[in-house]
Amino acid sequence: MIRLGVVGYGRRAHGVINGALRQVEPEVKVVAVVDPDEEGVRQRLAESDRPEVKFFNSLEEMVRKSSIDGLFIGTRCHLHAAMAIKAAAFDLPLFLEKPVAITMKQAMALEKAFEKSRCQVVVSFPLRVSPLCDLARRYISQGAVGEPVHVHAFNFVPYGTVYWEQPYRDYSITGGLFLQKATHDFDYLCFLMGSSIVRIGAMATFQHVFGGKKKAGLRCSQCPEQETCLESPQNRKRNVSGYHSNDHLCVYSVDCGNVETGTNEDCSSAVMEFATGGHGVYSQVFFTRREAGARGATVSGYLGTLSFDWYRNELKLVRHHQPFTVTEKAAEALSHFGGDFELARDFIGLIKGKIKKSRTPIETGIQSAYICLAARESALTGKFVKVRQAAAA
Ligand SMILES: NC(=O)c1ccc[n+]([C@@H]2O[C@H](COP(=O)([O-])OP(=O)(O)OC[C@H]3O[C@@H](n4cnc5c(N)ncnc54)[C@H](O)[C@@H]3O)[C@@H](O)[C@H]2O)c1
Repeated sequence: MIRLGVVGYGRRAHGVINGALRQVEPEVKVVAVVDPDEEGVRQRLAESDRPEVKFFNSLEEMVRKSSIDGLFIGTRCHLHAAMAIKAAAFDLPLFLEKPVAITMKQAMALEKAFEKSRCQVVVSFPLRVSPLCDLARRYISQGAVGEPVHVHAFNFVPYGTVYWEQPYRDYSITGGLFLQKATHDFDYLCFLMGSSIVRIGAMATFQHVFGGKKKAGLRCSQCPEQETCLESPQNRKRNVSGYHSNDHLCVYSVDCGNVETGTNEDCSSAVMEFATGGHGVYSQVFFTRREAGARGATVSGYLGTLSFDWYRNELKLVRHHQPFTVTEKAAEALSHFGGDFELARDFIGLIKGKIKKSRTPIETGIQSAYICLAARESALTGKFVKVRQAAAA
């Protein structure tokens, strides 16, 4: 049996533990939790976990007083770095949610804490380890495109209203959508290109679509504009424009913040220079719906162009100087395109001592945070920003 200690047993922690982790290893048990919302956690916990689970006030107390084999940090974004710094003092495998930090101070403190740590980390970057991205990287490593010189990456998010109607709209918790969303994409792009991003220029558009002046705390069920508003449950249902059609907080509320106090962007883009000298562009758009959803990249070198899209579950390789083009179709998508399952395999492998290093170690999370912080700074200042490089990355 694998005994887990969890800090922040929210929806994501529950989803990963009850889904991917138990698919890989059915004998996983949550025995210890640090979470101020004990009642909510007890409701979420699997029935088999409920009798034995114990609650603690801090990560240190939990590790000292309960015999656990692995740690899971699933709090919201602003607490990840502080919790992971505590975990760095112990020699226990750690599953750490992303982004690993939302400020430069947090990211640098995290890097320092892990300089001499023996704590092995699986950063929750399912895209990097998803089978489709792995296949793309294998093609590139085998020279299918030659030297990868250019990448064009995109993320048209069909469920983007979560960033205006759920707690993700609190900028002090997320730090904006480069950190919240692009942290995954910058990470897999470095993996694909086999190189770090060293310089970035970014742009963001705020409050052309979401955010606004509607009163604080407003919900659709209290709103006189339900008939006409495209985001009301009834119109989402009618137009099949979900991602859900339940009552929800207003996406045009003052609660979404503003440019002065910090707010999420409707869409943002970055131009990136890689250490190899190649470059790329990335865009993320949060108001798209339905079949407009798309996420993937096109990598080009002199010898070929390779494209893939997780939503289409397909990879295409065009050989520029040979009369061959291949299309590979992936099997039906799993959670996070199969990436959560791969992360779970790494985490269980570390706990059982079957693997020595995860495919998403702490330095990938720190490096991605440095890239996101540079992108955010660039978008706010209008200047290109040099990306800090994590020593271990
Ligand atoms: N890797 C991915 O693909 C992916 C997908 C979804 C969410 N996430 C990330 O997962 C994280 C959690 O998101 P969620 O939707 O599960 O949020 P959530 O609010 O459901 O869960 C957070 C939990 O942390 C608890 N908490 C709050 N303060 C705490 C504290 N001081 N100490 C311990 N626990 C505390 C809350 O009570 C709650 O149970 C976010 O950072 C999000 O970005 C990652």
